[in-house]
Amino acid sequence: MNKMSTLVVVGSQWGDEGKGKITDLLSEEADIIVRYQGGCNAGHTVVKGDKQFIFHLIPSGILHKGVKCLIGNGVVIDPEALLQEIENLKKKNIEIDDNLFIDFKAHVVLPYHKTLDEIKEVKRGKDKIGTTKRGIGPAYVDKIARTGIRMIDLIDEKFLAKKLENNLNEKDTIFEKLYGLKIPNQEKKDILKKYREYGQLLKRYVTDVSLYLNKAINEDKKILFEGAQGTLLDVDHGTFPYVTSSNPIAGGACIGTGVGPTKIDKVMGITKAYTTRVGRGPFPTEMQGELEEYTRQKGGEFGATTGRPRRCGWFDAVLVKYAVRINGMDNMALTKVDVLSDFDKVKICISYKYNKEIIEEFPVNLEILQNCIPVYEEIEGWKGDISQITQYGDLPQQLKDYINRIEELVKTKVVIVSVGPKRSQTIIREKIFK
Ligand code: IMP
Repeated sequence: MNKMSTLVVVGSQWGDEGKGKITDLLSEEADIIVRYQGGCNAGHTVVKGDKQFIFHLIPSGILHKGVKCLIGNGVVIDPEALLQEIENLKKKNIEIDDNLFIDFKAHVVLPYHKTLDEIKEVKRGKDKIGTTKRGIGPAYVDKIARTGIRMIDLIDEKFLAKKLENNLNEKDTIFEKLYGLKIPNQEKKDILKKYREYGQLLKRYVTDVSLYLNKAINEDKKILFEGAQGTLLDVDHGTFPYVTSSNPIAGGACIGTGVGPTKIDKVMGITKAYTTRVGRGPFPTEMQGELEEYTRQKGGEFGATTGRPRRCGWFDAVLVKYAVRINGMDNMALTKVDVLSDFDKVKICISYKYNKEIIEEFPVNLEILQNCIPVYEEIEGWKGDISQITQYGDLPQQLKDYINRIEELVKTKVVIVSVGPKRSQTIIREKIFK
């Protein structure tokens, strides 16, 4: 059996596939969990015993003693949100000490990024993206524009003052010229004071994540790379412009942590048994009316970060097949299958119809995607409570048929089936770390 010690976990759809739960579960076997992109726009829900945890920046593995949690250079960090998250975990008796590390190259989200995110959304009017308003896009803009502030700047009091002053002046001009707003001088002083304090509070966690990880790889440690959001929200390969501003796909794991592609052993897609999306943009298999509301309520499909109701739809095999390709996915975890119990029939979209033509490959062209009509295959539904089943063989035959058909259509094996939010509600068909 080949050695397998580095695994990328990536969302196969538009995010909210249940990555938090699966990462938490796999953390039982891993030594290190590292987040590689996104920021506190993410919300990963994990249920431990009777407690529910929602993670925004800290990797879901933090609940496991002995597991090291790393935040890579590809993540944008809102220090206020991160400190709050650390505080909340401590209140729930989760130790945060020598188990959290933040890369010194990671960029920082500042208050003006959040203001810009909000203003830009309002200005977009009916074309708004539906962002989480956490300042993510504007923070990445500053990174690419090479003006952003990094963790290494944040913890250096002298350098921070100079850099932040330049940034505040630049943003002030933009606010004034474009939006008729002004950042009062007192507010500028307050931001500097606050962020200097944040830097000093976070200093102890800051390290060279790339170096840490590469040493760990040489020591054969088991490492899980945790993506936030999902493949279709990727800024390059997603449904642009209705995407986030980073690369959640598996390739992003290398860029966002400083680990070379030859060091990644496997990629696992976390795939929901149906489809959801938050925010705007095309969604071919979207359900309507009562059916959508029923699925939303049953699946608890409300944003973990913003509380927004998620749009719900049938499983889209065209889209997941695309995610398999873009990520080079080796296998999948199929989540929330219990939500589909009790439907008389369940539908799988097997292709799209566009202008009388059948399309089998996911069209990244937004115009085509918006006007595609899904072609469905119907499968017999399964009845009853499946949430306590622990053996694959004990699942209803109709559900096994559903899983088989998905595997066949997207040409990838389902190695984990999740039948409920708890760790114990998981069927493992194949050992993940070898
Ligand atoms: P942003 O990441 O806040 O800029 O938002 C861009 C798009 O990504 C919006 O459609 C958001 O709803 C979506 N998005 C961002 N983070 C998540 C997530 O964790 N789950 C699902 N959708 C997300």
